[in-house]
Amino acid sequence: MCGIVGYIGEREAYPIVLEGLKRLEYRGYDSAGIALYDGQDIKLSKTKGKVMDLEARVDQEIETNGTVGIGHTRWATHGVPNDVNSHPHYSNSGDLVIIHNGIIENYESLKQELIKRGYIFKSDTDTEVLINLIEDVKKNENVKLGKAVQIALNQVIGAYAIAVFDKNKPNEIVVAKLGSPLAIGIGENEFFIASDATPFLEYTKKAIYLEDEEMAIVRRKKGVKIRKIKNDSLVAPYIQELQMNLEQIVKGGYEHFMLKEIYEQPHAIKDTYRGRLRAKQGIIKMSGIDDNIEKFLNANRIIVIACGTSWHAGLVAEYIFEDLARIPVEVEYASEFRYRNPIITEKDVVIAISQSGETADTLAAIKLAKSKGAFVFGVCNVVGSSIARETHAGAYTHAGPEIGVASTKAFTTQITVLTLIALKLAKEKGSISNSKFHLHLQELELIPSKVEQALKSDPHIKIVAETYKEAKNCLYLGRGFNFPVALEGALKLKEISYIHAEGYPAAEMKHGPIALIDEHMPVFVIATKKGHYEKVVSNIQEIKSRKGKIIGIVTEGDTDVKNLADHIIEVPETLEILTPLLTTIPLQLLSYHIAVLLDKNVDQPRNLAKSVTVE
Ligand code: M6R
Repeated sequence: MCGIVGYIGEREAYPIVLEGLKRLEYRGYDSAGIALYDGQDIKLSKTKGKVMDLEARVDQEIETNGTVGIGHTRWATHGVPNDVNSHPHYSNSGDLVIIHNGIIENYESLKQELIKRGYIFKSDTDTEVLINLIEDVKKNENVKLGKAVQIALNQVIGAYAIAVFDKNKPNEIVVAKLGSPLAIGIGENEFFIASDATPFLEYTKKAIYLEDEEMAIVRRKKGVKIRKIKNDSLVAPYIQELQMNLEQIVKGGYEHFMLKEIYEQPHAIKDTYRGRLRAKQGIIKMSGIDDNIEKFLNANRIIVIACGTSWHAGLVAEYIFEDLARIPVEVEYASEFRYRNPIITEKDVVIAISQSGETADTLAAIKLAKSKGAFVFGVCNVVGSSIARETHAGAYTHAGPEIGVASTKAFTTQITVLTLIALKLAKEKGSISNSKFHLHLQELELIPSKVEQALKSDPHIKIVAETYKEAKNCLYLGRGFNFPVALEGALKLKEISYIHAEGYPAAEMKHGPIALIDEHMPVFVIATKKGHYEKVVSNIQEIKSRKGKIIGIVTEGDTDVKNLADHIIEVPETLEILTPLLTTIPLQLLSYHIAVLLDKNVDQPRNLAKSVTVE
């Protein structure tokens, strides 16, 4: 996720902004840049790579005196990571400069309008569109920078935290926020701007956190004026006294990145469907699919290749694609696929799923599929990653950086992208009725708030975790769409708590694993109301009669499982195919709390790497 930093005051801006960018490195980024005002002009230096690379470049390229500056670490969303796409971006006149964290959804239509008016674009970013829109408004409406930013933002759909600077108004920085975080540090005659308070903690403990749809003009000496972007009304600034230390702020107040990322899921899922899903109009827009629709519709079958958690998301996709789009799907471990001389034809579509986009086995499997003539579509989180580049087309998950080694938000956002694709193909094929299609779109739009609801069980889940933390073995059961969730639940527990766990289709239990059940075996059973509910209840009875401990993941208001289980954890009701997006949440939290209670290294479990770039 991008990081933004700014300074305006009486000290030299450069060391403060540079150090601030280093503090924001934890957010994950692929490039960095800085803009400094030297008293006459805005000087800019930016590069693909690390803040360290930027530092070396700044030394060669620009003067570093000046008391106002802005800096950025970029996590690519539009346009691959390279020097040109890095922020800051100038407007065409060179008078304005911007840094931006977020996604402007309607940037393409705004860009076309600006091109018609003579604007030229150097980068592929949505951000360069925004700064030129601001410039255009400023010129045409003959307004000051703050007003121009406000008018422009009212034309924008998407999410943003921005800082804009005008060389003709060197005493102010204009900032605005919707969806992405933005904090303003208040010092003595100096102000700091940042994605969180880490860059300015040693200078001031006083901060204003902008709310969504607010903007502020931060003036040297004069202070901060906050307005609502929509109706221009003034907002009284609420200045907070910061109590947190550096470590706490980096993790957003959470104890671990994993927990932070679990809690980010409502937002991350929204970011995944932002600009793609228009439930009211009944539209799903995904350029990677739109441009290749015939390939998908004429495919003999879809082969999904992935590893680990991404493979589990692929397994959920198998159920969803076959159910909705009626296209046969095979799901393969990339590591097996690449070495087993698979039969692949030009009529196959391969979907490669990877959070990092760097997994060596998946990359090799893609190359093999391509060499046999298959069309390969990537579902990645990291923009510009090797897999994103190696595939013919793709769709990003836009989950933001995932730092905890155990994948959480990557899984739910992968499922979101794959659900969108399946629904789109089903609509194109006519394998879904209009009313069912609309219902699914509406329900998908409600998922972020339902995930939020599911997260509210956290304190109860902690108590359940306390009860089972000493278990030596655990069983996870689910059926249909929730069978892969059982596998994922078991993987999460194994990797961070080192407790042995197995995921099974609930009905398979009687073919072997039932022999393991005794009073020491906790069995986590996904038993939501929709989807083989009665059958799963029978499976629960089988466990109960063998004295197994039952923890049911159930639909809100369930009574049948409640009467049988030792514990239940409720999730909100949704359509059957969307249940994995909710049932996953308590299982992630359970693993997290068990690992914490066992004092394990949650974010960096032993023997594991975040991206597995070796065989
Ligand atoms: O980056 P990828 O999605 O390709 O990574 C695949 C697996 O290595 C990854 O999902 C791994 O299983 C995680 N540690 C699971 O939490």
